[in-house]
Amino acid sequence: MHIKEKKFGVLPNGKKVKLYTLSAGDLQFSLTDFGATWTSLIIPSGKGKGKDDVLLGYSCLDGYLNNQPYIGVTVGRFANRIKNAAFTLNGKKYQLEANDGKNSLHSGSRGFDKLLWKSKAYEEDEGVYVRFELTSPEGDSGFPGKLKASVCYGLTKSNEIICDYQVKVDAPCPVNLTNHAYFNLNGEGRGDILSHEAVLYCSSYVEVDKYAIPTGKIIPVDGNKFDFTKRKKIDSDFSKFPVKFNGYDHCFVVDGEPGKLRPCAEVYSNESGRSMKVFTTQPGVQFYTGNHLQKVTGKPGSVYTKHTGFCMETQHFPDTPNRISFPQCTASPGNDYHEKAVFKFDWYS
Ligand code: BGC
Repeated sequence: MHIKEKKFGVLPNGKKVKLYTLSAGDLQFSLTDFGATWTSLIIPSGKGKGKDDVLLGYSCLDGYLNNQPYIGVTVGRFANRIKNAAFTLNGKKYQLEANDGKNSLHSGSRGFDKLLWKSKAYEEDEGVYVRFELTSPEGDSGFPGKLKASVCYGLTKSNEIICDYQVKVDAPCPVNLTNHAYFNLNGEGRGDILSHEAVLYCSSYVEVDKYAIPTGKIIPVDGNKFDFTKRKKIDSDFSKFPVKFNGYDHCFVVDGEPGKLRPCAEVYSNESGRSMKVFTTQPGVQFYTGNHLQKVTGKPGSVYTKHTGFCMETQHFPDTPNRISFPQCTASPGNDYHEKAVFKFDWYS
């Protein structure tokens, strides 16, 4: 196992940005303290085709400074959408920034993904890790109270990425942290992900309106286009979507008990022989098939268009602060937020 740390670049305010590269098992995983962002994951192929970087990203810091699709970042304080960019907590209304029509997406234009985190790399028996820390002041992006986030990402000898999200607050505040990595198991820049196959351990999903805001209904997937309980090609049912959606951008309800680390998803590529298994303690996973990617200049030689990467964002349901029937995610003093996720990689010939 090995940890390498180097300079990634300098922010317009003169602050230095770091790039960490963790090596363990057969993988190499790079992360930067700007946005606590995953920048690359190099893994072998099962089909004798050599190693590839399976994460979409940019060739240098500049790309991450203008990262509209949120590639690889840590999202907070609240991942995904909040209706009308507002919520009421203990009788008080909190107004957020509307940056997706009338709604808030990923906490507005200065969420955790746009901030430089404190960081420290360390080694333990089973893996190598980077701990990222951030203090978000009272009123940050419109949210109540002061918040301290501690996010740990690591790589183990068993070829797993381990994610640990912890938050302490000094006043009640809804919290929903996730990582927004886009994967292409054939290698970034190697076409689309439509022939990848997926299984979701999810018997229902969160219905949304045309603005991707939950209607409040949780719908069984039984045999409909949201049914990934049996392995199927990602685009098998794309023709059943209205053209505007053109793929998945939906929160699926993970079977089993929230709070327990349990299987959430598996994705396979027959072309590369690679597979990724996802486990989470969170109630949901936003399965997003990169529908809005539009000519993003990525790593050297790569341009990312629609469906060239997919995301499995483990999280609480969108708009939870306005939906009392959803599993709640309000942290309060003495009631910290703590969630985990694991991404495990394999390859077969
Ligand atoms: C959302 C998408 C959005 C993407 C990039 C995902 O989490 O569900 O609607 O386009 O993030 O912001």
